[in-house]
Amino acid sequence: MANFDLVIRGGTVATASGVYAADVGIVGEHIAAIGKDLAKGAQEIDAKGRIVMPGGVDSHCHIEQPSSTGGVNADTFLSGTRAAVCGGTTSVICFAPQFKTMHIEQSTADYHKRAERGATCDYSFHLIVNRADQETLDALPGLIAQGHRTIKVFMTYPSNRVDDAGLLNLMAVARRNQAFMVIHAEHHDMIMWMMAAMTAAGLTEAKHHCWSKPPVVEREAVHRVVAMSELLDQPVQIFHVTCGEAAEEIRRAQSRGLKVFGETCAQYLTLTADDLDKPNGEGAKWVCSPAPRDAAEHENLWNYIKTGVLDIVSSDHAPSNFGEAEGEKLPDGPKTPFTRMPNGVPGLETRLPILFSKGVVEGRIDLETFVAISARNPARLFGLANKGDIAPGKDADIAIWDPDVKTTIRQANLHHDVNYTPYEGMAVTGWPTTTISRGEVLWQDGAFKAAPGRGRFMARGPYDFIKPRGVFPGPFKPFD
Ligand code: URP
Ligand code: ZN
Ligand code: ZN
Repeated sequence: MANFDLVIRGGTVATASGVYAADVGIVGEHIAAIGKDLAKGAQEIDAKGRIVMPGGVDSHCHIEQPSSTGGVNADTFLSGTRAAVCGGTTSVICFAPQFKTMHIEQSTADYHKRAERGATCDYSFHLIVNRADQETLDALPGLIAQGHRTIKVFMTYPSNRVDDAGLLNLMAVARRNQAFMVIHAEHHDMIMWMMAAMTAAGLTEAKHHCWSKPPVVEREAVHRVVAMSELLDQPVQIFHVTCGEAAEEIRRAQSRGLKVFGETCAQYLTLTADDLDKPNGEGAKWVCSPAPRDAAEHENLWNYIKTGVLDIVSSDHAPSNFGEAEGEKLPDGPKTPFTRMPNGVPGLETRLPILFSKGVVEGRIDLETFVAISARNPARLFGLANKGDIAPGKDADIAIWDPDVKTTIRQANLHHDVNYTPYEGMAVTGWPTTTISRGEVLWQDGAFKAAPGRGRFMARGPYDFIKPRGVFPGPFKPFD
């Protein structure tokens, strides 16, 4: 009888702490052994010349997320997780949204049903709170105890934003209930003022989206979140940092010992404001927030990644079709003003190949850092103890890479359910050839095979990495 259900043989194992030649033996859903010349498995995968890394953990993706107006973003749990798996990602953290008109317990329960129907890989949720009223504050401890251990706050977007008083109240709930906070940090009133002034001046094309929110809009909001985090001793992660100015606020916070973490996304390492400068509304394909910057900012961000200030690179997969229906990129046709274009770009499947190519192949980061920012660090920050590493006892979530294959990203070859990719025509080197989730091969040599709903909810209990420091800036200790 074989010792292992599956052996990945002869590859180069890459983790956040080392790169070495070894076989990986899997029994059931878990990694059982790592070593040279492991005994034969019931199934074998030849990984010679390949990299064997932990499956990616994408801690920021909007999948089948209903909107307050009744629409849903373009991907379902089935298509979103299919795209994830085909791009080497095996865990996703998406968003159970609150609506002004629905109790947060109800919208979270509804979102679970969507995921149970479709998810093909494992998933967890951040709770989007857009109504910091007493009813919501009272509901949150129960939801956190059920394993929804992050509260997400938007500081902008008219229908979603929470004001500073609300944000402080939510931080206090998080602090009392051992939860984490993730924040979309942009200064709402600055954006609204700019949008109104630019509309009055007739500046309404997609490219003007970038003009309406220069880096200072982001920097100011990051600075404010850091101050609030310091006041209440509540650990936070700043989502989708796009520029050196904002990253520098995070670096300063970290140098004071604060538990402030920073994420950037593949789009902010590759796209620029020039991508939005396309005729007939086509620039809408690249509209996302905060706005894409320029090549100099890409290098700034890589430097903050190298120094660990930004320690996670996610996709912020937020798909809307390029079309003219309500909820699509051009609801008013080619002349749709940027203020009416839905924000966000798809990127679940392309996140790892872009990061590998621009990061490792082009020499900006080493393989260990690639694994850290795309798998180990998000698993650690969000309390997914079984994910993000290749070690005995961990879940057998593995992506096997051909590091040499040269590909051009084409919509026609992707597996999401949105009708374009913002990376059309981008040349990349390296792509995952096999993806394994809890011991099951889901993606191999161009074929995807997974039962809808096989993915499991990852409930997240309290964990040490996000423990507050117990340090307050004044004599009053609000949580004693
Ligand atoms: O433009 C973006 N990022 N849209 C998705 C929602 C968000 O802000 O993260
Ligand atoms: Zn955001
Ligand atoms: Zn997002």
